[in-house]
Amino acid sequence: MYCLGIESTAHTFGVAIMEDSGRVLSNEKVMFMTEEGEGGMIPNEVAKHHRLHRDEVIKKALDTAGIMIKDIGLVSFSMSPGLAPSLVVGMETAKDIARTNKIPLVGVNHCIAHLEIGNLMTKSNDPVLLYASGVNTQVIAYEGGKYRIFGETLDIGVGNFLDSFARHCGLGFPGGPKLEKLALNSGMKKKGEIIELPYSVKGMDVSFGGLLTNLKQKFDSKKYKIEDLAFSMQETVFAMLIEVSERAIAHTGKKELLLGGGVACNSRLQEMAKIMCKERGAECFVPERQFLVDNAAMISWLGILEHKAGVKKEIDEWDIDPYERTDDVEVIWR
Ligand code: ATP
Ligand code: FE2
Repeated sequence: MYCLGIESTAHTFGVAIMEDSGRVLSNEKVMFMTEEGEGGMIPNEVAKHHRLHRDEVIKKALDTAGIMIKDIGLVSFSMSPGLAPSLVVGMETAKDIARTNKIPLVGVNHCIAHLEIGNLMTKSNDPVLLYASGVNTQVIAYEGGKYRIFGETLDIGVGNFLDSFARHCGLGFPGGPKLEKLALNSGMKKKGEIIELPYSVKGMDVSFGGLLTNLKQKFDSKKYKIEDLAFSMQETVFAMLIEVSERAIAHTGKKELLLGGGVACNSRLQEMAKIMCKERGAECFVPERQFLVDNAAMISWLGILEHKAGVKKEIDEWDIDPYERTDDVEVIWR
């Protein structure tokens, strides 16, 4: 059975086709971009972009998979959380296909999809997920029938923080990879030095607002090299993320850490995660890039898991839920 999955929570409109065995036949996407990158993301413009491009992405996904729309047996879409106008485009598109083909439809939670695709693509089975993306920064793990959020950002997502700082420094978008490159050229690492920056962990939560203001001031003062700021910023921010992940591992007694989200593409974050896991006797899993960033394969896969577990509703009964939380979802497929 083939499932066509649609991702449209934010700037990515993606379509993927997967077999229920877990084989990915195609995983296509387009991304909404403005001059300043995500900074000027206006929900209605994003939705317009997705409407404009959806047919071509569907066609590309089918062509790459080498199948026809009539071969699809299940449709899934990201119903939560995200920008409402954007979510609606994905849902409308999914409903159209489900009606035309007279096949079942399943709506899934985007954050949980990151975790389940990680389990499929790596050998992780019951991990603590560090989900570090543009909008989201959460530490999630399964407990008592649900995926619980053990820690999260109290203000902005770590990716948005990186992008804001990079934009302030005139580096363009996306900022994360640009700052990563600059950090590698800092001489501080060799000398064992670091610029002191505010470190903000409260229990298992993190926050980035104060740090962002501080970094912008330091950049504007012209007293620091951008390479050194980028290096010190990464060391500080990733130490915060690893600290809360480690605490969640200790609290839950789990033996696996899984990375997810675009920021998890960062080599230094991956390295710090691996070091922490090694010290604790846990295993660290990192899916390949296309399954870290927002993608439709994860939506397709979670659709398959939920459908097989018996999640069932009439097509018209499905709706978006922009503010649904990870722990609102009953996990009946595990
Ligand atoms: P969400 O998943 O919350 O809807 P999103 O769609 O913005 O958010 P992703 O596509 O998962 O998130 O990731 C985009 C973010 O990842 C951007 O903020 C970008 O700067 C960051 N990013 C990408 N590569 C790297 C890297 N090598 N180092 C650090 N950050 C990175
Ligand atoms: Fe995401």
